[in-house]
Amino acid sequence: MSRRLHTDRSSLAHRLRYALRHPTRVPPYLRRFVRDLRLRRMTGGDHVAYYRAVMKDDTARNPESAVGSATHERWLALGEMQFDYLVRHGLSPEDRMLEIGCGNLRAGRLFIAYLDPAHYHGTDISPEILLSARETLVRHGLQAKLPYLTLVDDLRLAHLPDGHFTVVHAHSVFSHSPVQVIDECLRHVGRVLAPGGFFDFTYNRTLGAEHQVLREDFYYRTETLVRLAESHGLTARPMDDWEELPHRQSRIRVTHRG
Ligand SMILES: C[S@@+](CC[C@H](N)C(=O)[O-])C[C@H]1O[C@@H](n2cnc3c(N)ncnc32)[C@H](O)[C@@H]1O
Repeated sequence: MSRRLHTDRSSLAHRLRYALRHPTRVPPYLRRFVRDLRLRRMTGGDHVAYYRAVMKDDTARNPESAVGSATHERWLALGEMQFDYLVRHGLSPEDRMLEIGCGNLRAGRLFIAYLDPAHYHGTDISPEILLSARETLVRHGLQAKLPYLTLVDDLRLAHLPDGHFTVVHAHSVFSHSPVQVIDECLRHVGRVLAPGGFFDFTYNRTLGAEHQVLREDFYYRTETLVRLAESHGLTARPMDDWEELPHRQSRIRVTHRG
């Protein structure tokens, strides 16, 4: 079993060991540490406001690294990985898709190109990354596909219709979310999910104690998230075939019970 899955990245011992092994990563970490103190004071414990401010800062530097890709090649590859996975799982042009935390359409551009017009709906909490998403749309000539892109400040999905989406997707969103945010999403997602539809999300898995680093990266045990989904009348199962891909996060699929 990988040691990585037992690591508590919030512990001082881990941080010191990590700094010794990767000295070049210390300055960016310190920059994030100072930013965390400043933004925490500014946003007073509201996680969405906090993370929106993080995204504003990161997007101003580079929108592709703001969604987690260090290079353009990685941005393209991560989008393709998400797209190919869902196509292998039967995604068809008639599907109606909701992407929660769509970012600047790293994968969204491929979903939009593939799905029928107006079948893609992306939401995000960051106005800056949605402006970057609009640039991605233009760059890829996707105007005729008429995607919806909506700015949100919670995960209640209140602006969306009952039973509409056959596929809901949230990649690398719960890895940045405290459990209250995930709980809110799982409480409401069943309402917008079509009969037979599914909700896939990725998360940072730990086999040890659950923890977070600088309020930006959260680590959960699989059973916590499965139980949370079940507490909202849903069924959840880990997707083992996703583990075979070169990606550090794990994946869970949520469906209506029965
Ligand atoms: C690491 S990026 C991934 C973006 C996209 N899913 C992708 O794979 O390219 C995380 C995105 O989720 C958004 N986000 C974070 N928390 C959110 C929330 N509670 N609701 C909606 N979007 C959220 C961030 O603004 C950011 O654009």
